[in-house]
Amino acid sequence: MTRMEPTIDRIKALDIKGFLDEEEGMRLYDLSREAAALGPCLEIGSYCGKSTAYLAAGCRERGSVLFTIDHHQGSEEQQPGEEYFDPDLLDSETGRIDTFRSFRETIEMLGLSNTVVPIVSTSEVAARFWSTPLSMVFIDGGHAMETAFLDYACWSPHILPGGYLAIHDIFTDPAEGGQAPWYLYRMALDSGLFRELPRVKTLGILQRIPLHSLVDYAFAMRDKLSSK
Ligand SMILES: C[S@@+](CC[C@H](N)C(=O)[O-])C[C@H]1O[C@@H](n2cnc3c(N)ncnc32)[C@H](O)[C@@H]1O
Repeated sequence: MTRMEPTIDRIKALDIKGFLDEEEGMRLYDLSREAAALGPCLEIGSYCGKSTAYLAAGCRERGSVLFTIDHHQGSEEQQPGEEYFDPDLLDSETGRIDTFRSFRETIEMLGLSNTVVPIVSTSEVAARFWSTPLSMVFIDGGHAMETAFLDYACWSPHILPGGYLAIHDIFTDPAEGGQAPWYLYRMALDSGLFRELPRVKTLGILQRIPLHSLVDYAFAMRDKLSSK
């Protein structure tokens, strides 16, 4: 049962710029609140702070933190002339997209500055010397295949047993949307290290098999493979 902390009502009322459905946001909140008891959470793709806010609300309830990575220069589809371009986010001095100001306003307005650790960088550079185990990773960065693959390859090995991997924009039908997130999702499942939880709209959720379930899981895999 979701406990509606006041921040959640404020997030819903704020109308933060972003690409997350409210039901998906609530699921992120529930997951981060549960996961954060194990350790910090991490997000790739902060944009203007919408998903960050839901994730951080859950972390804050556990006294945990959310690391959130974005170079804040926008993805390909958010550049001038592209489908998701937003002129409000164009820096008139540099002529480039800059989402960091809007992101910071969101976090400050919601009083989440002591929970959110922004990392202004590409995901791959931020990962190079990372060594902290993570209770949850949410991937919603660049949707080009190579960028999405790097996010998965760099960050999924840090997820603790029992922790979560959530991936946004899962479209199983290519006619509905890009296939990179769906490809990552299947790669994680094929690794044998994750199990599937019910999807919420386009939010895919996998759980790294907890250590206490690994032996049962290994036998189930053996039976599944030998029956093929
Ligand atoms: C779809 S938006 C994220 C939306 C956000 N999660 C929300 O709730 O509205 C993708 C973001 O990923 C960032 N991004 C794209 N490629 C990246 C990369 N390689 N490293 C870090 N950030 C990246 C973009 O700057 C953009 O802000």
